[in-house]
Parts: sequence; structure tokens; C-alpha cells
Amino acid sequence: MLKITDLVKRYGTGNPVLKSLDLTIEGESVVSVIGSSGAGKSTLLRCINRLVEPTSGSIELNGTELTSLRGRELRAARRKIGMVFQGFNLVDRLTVMENVQSGRLGYIPTWAAVMRRYPKKDIRRAYELMERVGIAHYANKRADELSGGERQRVGVVRALMQDPEILLADEPTASLDPKTSEQIMGLLRDLAGELKLPVLINIHNVTEAKIYTDRIVGMRYGRIIFDDTPDKLDQEAMDQIYSGSPHADRSEDLKEAS
Ligand SMILES: Nc1ncnc2c1ncn2[C@@H]1O[C@H](COP(=O)(O)OP(=O)(O)OP(=O)(O)O)[C@@H](O)[C@H]1O
Ligand SMILES: [Mg+2]
Repeated sequence: MLKITDLVKRYGTGNPVLKSLDLTIEGESVVSVIGSSGAGKSTLLRCINRLVEPTSGSIELNGTELTSLRGRELRAARRKIGMVFQGFNLVDRLTVMENVQSGRLGYIPTWAAVMRRYPKKDIRRAYELMERVGIAHYANKRADELSGGERQRVGVVRALMQDPEILLADEPTASLDPKTSEQIMGLLRDLAGELKLPVLINIHNVTEAKIYTDRIVGMRYGRIIFDDTPDKLDQEAMDQIYSGSPHADRSEDLKEAS
């Protein structure tokens, strides 16, 4: 279970980008986060895997408080959080297998990784997962020889090789054509069920969010203003999530403060 309580993130001395945010994700649900550009979706994901430091608040993953972890403990916790990126973040000149095995970094000794001496069970697991997502025949191809959809499948397998307890995806389909985008969303949904994994996806495509996710979280200027099943996301909710200006929101903040 991921349990976020009263999370605040402020970059430097600016206004908070996340404002006392609460979010709990249980079980193997697939949750999408929607909202205008700048709403704080990426910041939320980055706070969870500590790519950015939360200003205050609590983020618990299966009972472990993530916000206070340092050093070795932080690295161990990060392994439990699989991350899928819009730009795939593959190493182009490495093969698919090498990219996928980099998900095991932190589990195997550095020398073994450098020598590409992967444990047999990791190779087996990689083939299982690559088979599952349809890229096993590309194992020895260089990553830069693949199409976008294939590259994102590599990204997904690499994240799953970490044996994560949660999967976070920041606009995983934004660089893909519509059909491939749907395939990747379907894949993420199916894998969540098969691996009993909660998945949190930032996405701009609301139609896909409705089709492929169980729950939609709508963010506006650092707050969650909608959190419900896709069928509840009507026009009024959409207008609230996507309307307004940062200026309007500041006046709301001032009202709250006074
Ligand atoms: N490293 C940073 N330093 C300062 N401000 C930042 C930083 N990263 C993000 N911000 C600001 O925080 C706010 C939220 O940004 P964030 O990237 O989380 O939004 P987003 O919802 O993911 O937007 P998009 O849909 O465009 O990806 C924006 O106003 C942005 O300018
Ligand atoms: Mg973003």
C-alpha cells in the first residue's frame, strides 16, 4: 500500500507545487493522474521515488516511511519502486538484455554488472518478462534499433526486473502513436493484475485514462480535486480540473490563509 499524507513540495522559496496532498493506493489498482501542465503530476511521482525531496509530509510504501530514508536504506527502498519514463531512458548502444538487466543493478555486485555476468535466474526472469511483453526475440538487438513501442516495452521490463512493490509511470505513452499508446496502456493494466502490483500513471490522454485505469486522480495547482472511478469523471469534473489560471488559484490560497 502507498499512503501519502499531507505532502508538501516547494522548490526553493517559490509557492508550493504540492499543497497538503493526501493519496492512498491499495492493492493492484491502476491509478491515473491527470491535470494541466504544471499541476504537479511529475513532482508527485518524483517525491515518491525521492528524485526530489518532499518539503514535508509522509509517504509510506508498505509500512516503510520513504521521506526519512538516507543512503543504503534509500537505495533499497528505491529498488522497490519501478519507474517507467516518457523518453524510455534506455542506453541506446546497449542491447535489450543489457538494458533490462540494469533493472537488477543494486541487487548484484558492480563487477558482475560491468562484466555482464548476470545471474542465471535474472536471465531467466528477463526472458519470461520479455516473452510476456513480446520482445524476447530482440534480446540481443541494440536498444536504438527498436521502435518506440518496443523501446517502452524494454522500459517496462527493466522496471519489473527490480521486483518492484509499485510501478510509477510518468507519461509513458506521450511519445508513442495512438495505437501503440493504447497497447502500452493495456499492457500496464494487465501486468498490474498479473503481478498484483499497484501502478500510478501520469497521463494527458483522458480517454485512455478512462479506458485503462481503475481510478482517476485529478490535480489542479498542487491539489487533488478529483479522486474517483472513471465513470464519475463527467464534464463538470473535467472543467474543474482543467479550468482556471495560477492567478485565480493564488487568490483562493489567500482566501484560505485569511
Ligand atoms: N526542478 C524544479 N525547480 C523548480 N520548479 C520546478 C521544478 N520542477 C518542476 N517545477 C515547477 O513545479 C510545477 C509543477 O511541475 P510538474 O513538472 O510537477 O508538473 P506536471 O503536472 O508534471 O506538468 P506536465 O503535464 O507539463 O508534465 C511547475 O510550475 C514547474 O515549473
Ligand atoms: Mg510532468
